[in-house]
Amino acid sequence: MAAILPHGGTLVNRIVTGAEREEQLKQAKELRQLPITNWTISDLDLIGVGAFSPLTGFLNEEDYQSVVHNMRLVNGTVWSIPITLDVNPEYAASFEIGEVIALVGQEDSVIYGTLTVESVYKADHEVEAVKVYKTNDKEHPGVKKLFERHTTYVGGSIQVLNRKQPAKFEEFYYDPAETREQFEAKGWKTVVGFQTRNPVHRAHEYIQKSAMEIVDALFLNPLVGETKSDDVPADVRMKSYLVLLENYYPANRTFLGVFPAAMRYAGPREAIFHAMVRKNYGCTHFIVGRDHAGVGDYYGTYEAQEIFTNFTAEELGITPLFFEHSFFCTKCGNMASSKTCPHGKEDHLTLSGTKVRGLLREGQCPPPEFTRPEVAEVLIEGMTEQQVTT
Ligand code: ADX
Repeated sequence: MAAILPHGGTLVNRIVTGAEREEQLKQAKELRQLPITNWTISDLDLIGVGAFSPLTGFLNEEDYQSVVHNMRLVNGTVWSIPITLDVNPEYAASFEIGEVIALVGQEDSVIYGTLTVESVYKADHEVEAVKVYKTNDKEHPGVKKLFERHTTYVGGSIQVLNRKQPAKFEEFYYDPAETREQFEAKGWKTVVGFQTRNPVHRAHEYIQKSAMEIVDALFLNPLVGETKSDDVPADVRMKSYLVLLENYYPANRTFLGVFPAAMRYAGPREAIFHAMVRKNYGCTHFIVGRDHAGVGDYYGTYEAQEIFTNFTAEELGITPLFFEHSFFCTKCGNMASSKTCPHGKEDHLTLSGTKVRGLLREGQCPPPEFTRPEVAEVLIEGMTEQQVTT
């Protein structure tokens, strides 16, 4: 069986290398410069390496409208999250269609790439918020970020000339071409992708391992881009994944690699996006549990699963695996969900994120039925370090 096709059929590669890169970098210095944020640098890079295939750049106006309203690109390909580049409107007014502009890190002045201007357009943030995030509430972290952006967007294809070097855990950064190669070399025909922005607790472990029973391997693919400030920092999480894998997972059936994207907290729409991206990394299956990519009470517990019914299996091209809310049942004496456990809520161990953070902050391990002790130790250490430095 050939490896799973990337979304749209071809793995995009917009990374310029060698002499061509040198030449383009020289020319880029003479171009108009557009300062970009770390979030945009991450989007640029993910487009460049094909993680966002079939996108070859930031959305133009037609694709943007189509994604916002129909969850598809103009050509019909499923795409649920607008990947856009916002620009100061006065500056954008001087852009000419077809002009190539240099994209420059606003913090470090590095030229990360170029964009060929295809369209400059106005976005209606109210509409985008309600369509994509299902709310215009600025308390929602994704909506808050959206409203901080300019309402003028510039769309067009990109080229990547420089890539940000990860400060830590560099060995876990793989481009989609590399994960595909690795999965193939290991002889894995079916790989389930797991998105997370949290430490892996027992419920996560349970749904991962349930999935592992029916596929060849697990691709643990934690998101390590921008997250909201009260999420556990990525480097602490990485340490926790490593101890967990070492102690409780078969090394020949697991693969840890990071997903360096920003978290949008867009719930259902982000679940579709997460699945398409994992297909690009070479996954054949993708886990969607309860309130995937959700935050607060903005989305229904299973809305991120229900949204998949809008698309056919062929257009998705990756098999979503849905899991019910999972917990440890003291009567069953094991992890379960309402699908497998007949007991009542009083027998189920469920702890809120706030409660768990509180325990860890006080240096106390949550019960082992909730979090593996090795993981808890890493989290406690991480929290103490954080308190010392902040
Ligand atoms: S997310 O924002 O990245 O989705 P999180 O890291 O908590 O958040 O979740 C990772 C995956 O595990 C998601 O698919 C989520 O739906 C699922 N999940 C988290 N907790 C549970 C649980 N208790 N039961 C079932 N699925 C869960």
